[in-house]
Amino acid sequence: MPVLRRRIPSGDPLGSSELLEWLGTDLGVRANMVASVDGRATVNGRVGHLTGPADQLLLVALRAWCDVLLVGAGTVRAEGYGAIDLPEELQELRVQRGQAPRPVLAVLIGRHDLDPALPVFSETGPDTRPWLISAAGSDTSRPDRNAHILEVSAGEDGRPSVREALQTLRGAGLGRVLSEGGPTILGHLLGQGLVNELFLTVSPQVVGGDGLRIVHVPEYQNPVELTLSDVLGGAHEVFLRYAAGTRPV
Ligand SMILES: NC(=O)c1ccc[n+]([C@@H]2O[C@H](COP(=O)([O-])OP(=O)(O)OC[C@H]3O[C@@H](n4cnc5c(N)ncnc54)[C@H](OP(=O)(O)O)[C@@H]3O)[C@@H](O)[C@H]2O)c1
Repeated sequence: MPVLRRRIPSGDPLGSSELLEWLGTDLGVRANMVASVDGRATVNGRVGHLTGPADQLLLVALRAWCDVLLVGAGTVRAEGYGAIDLPEELQELRVQRGQAPRPVLAVLIGRHDLDPALPVFSETGPDTRPWLISAAGSDTSRPDRNAHILEVSAGEDGRPSVREALQTLRGAGLGRVLSEGGPTILGHLLGQGLVNELFLTVSPQVVGGDGLRIVHVPEYQNPVELTLSDVLGGAHEVFLRYAAGTRPV
């Protein structure tokens, strides 16, 4: 007979180093997203209004777990990503684990039209230069964007193959991949069975409207099945940790 259980134990509070331990050190692809109670992934085109201090704590721990933070060009345009910084103690833990102090930022791009004035280029130095992952044969001639260019083969729509991007990152020793979206990239990653775990924060807000949800792709022929593996609670947020069905990259 089905039963319901309370999933949020009133256990010890978890700070960033405990969360990092909770996340473990396995290689794989993880995705982290936040949505309102009514499933919206943005408010006024940005994620900021949905996130809060507890969500940021998990975000920082996931960033501290990963070797590379992978985002789509749409998220960089909307959110203005800069160099990925981490608190000193997490940088030290990473070094003890044999990782670089900070993860690499990699951006999947299609059109090569990112503004050179974006913080992702203007606020990064030689150690924090982002990687732009683009489709082979696309025009990379636009002048310096203070970035490394990584070419992978093009998918059906001429954009970089997300599968090959992950394979290439893994081949470069970046086997712990954290995707922070956005909804288009997450939709492709999930739809192609490339995500091991999805971390979803339910933000205690109702937004309304018909804006973006956490995936923005045509409806899947077969919905992606998830298995709930843990639940954490903030003051008002709920954090859901799911295992997703994957095929090897
Ligand atoms: N709630 C959350 O947790 C969350 C997280 C992240 C972002 N967001 C929000 O999501 C919005 C951005 O959404 P989005 O879906 O446009 O962003 P996205 O998934 O970050 O980026 C989509 C873009 O990535 C590029 N791209 C590169 N390779 C691709 C491929 N293989 N397939 C498809 N696209 C590829 C394309 O850029 P080109 O146009 O250059 O071809 C495409 O337009 C922003 O408003 C942001 O605030 C919310």
